[in-house]
Amino acid sequence: MNGTPAVHLRGTGSSLPKRVMRNEEFAAFLETSDEWITTRTGIHERRLAGPEETTVSLGLEASRRALEAAGLKAGDLDLILFATVTPVSQVPSNACRIQAGLGCRLIPAFDLNAACTGFLYGLAVADGMIRAGNHQHVLLIGAETLSRVVNFSDRGSSVVFGDGAGAAILSASTGEGTGVRRVRLYADGRLGDLIQLGGPGGQPAWTGPGTPQPAAPAKITMNGREVFRFAVQRVHQMVQEALTDCGLAAPDVALVIPHQANQRILDAAFADLGFLPENVMSNIDRYGNTSAASVPIALDEAFCTRRVKSGDTVLLLAFGGGMTWGSAVVTL
Ligand code: ACO
Repeated sequence: MNGTPAVHLRGTGSSLPKRVMRNEEFAAFLETSDEWITTRTGIHERRLAGPEETTVSLGLEASRRALEAAGLKAGDLDLILFATVTPVSQVPSNACRIQAGLGCRLIPAFDLNAACTGFLYGLAVADGMIRAGNHQHVLLIGAETLSRVVNFSDRGSSVVFGDGAGAAILSASTGEGTGVRRVRLYADGRLGDLIQLGGPGGQPAWTGPGTPQPAAPAKITMNGREVFRFAVQRVHQMVQEALTDCGLAAPDVALVIPHQANQRILDAAFADLGFLPENVMSNIDRYGNTSAASVPIALDEAFCTRRVKSGDTVLLLAFGGGMTWGSAVVTL
């Protein structure tokens, strides 16, 4: 291929656990209610992985569907990226497990962690590696089983999270004016304590010869109110910045596909940006916050329900632990 290739979003897939947990179930063991959760978050239900379902099994299913949608075989892939904060194991990486599960060639495969912004970070990596000319077809997965790290006795965080997986195939293309037009990423590590999973410094508690083993596995802690404030501000800024960078106005964007964290965050952030509510994708009522999986699940749903079609421009947005945030403008 001559010159720098364009990076085309060629296919998507998703996979959700079978088990549905409705808000009413929380009221059986927490001081909460369906009314509180619905009004404060927009969430009615979420999916929870069963004992046989893992971050990798969900990611594998989403990957197979994305390959099918792209009209490609596992053997066509030449890079796998896996965004997650709930890996099945640190080593081997989830991406290596996917490589083996799909039966790929001996292609590079690695995990990355940017919490709920993981899919956007992965998109930036895929975009850069394809543009560098070394990769033709990249499989990017965002998958989580947050239910394994949620503290179900904390009503301030447990009600918002859910499990699931989404995947996308990004391919080098010659198509002028299509594909990934621009990706922008941010992080502010000074705000790291707003959402935490794992011990201080991100490592398991120190243990040595003769010291007791850690009593309990790490669980998510979150300062919901501060994350809420942060998210409204950042989403608002990112939308304005993306439109300016690409010389677009709100009506030029067929669909905004934001991280699904809280419907009130989206309502507040988009209040004065000139988008019609139907042009801001929301499926949080059914899946809750699935962290790195939320944007690719919503993207796949937008394709499957024909809310977007070839030639449309979409704006992807995410924010999450780290704190991290990022956005991308893609013409399909
Ligand atoms: N049921 C009933 N009452 C509750 C519940 C609940 N589930 N949760 C909190 N409350 C209570 C609080 O105790 C508090 O009571 P008080 O006034 O007597 O002290 C009151 O409700 C208000 O609490 P807030 O925390 O201010 O509630 P808020 O409206 O902010 O909603 C929520 C909490 C839903 C968590 C919200 O803050 C939120 O969505 N934050 C953003 C989370 C997010 O986006 N995370 C994304 C990143 S996650 C990642 O990266 C892995």
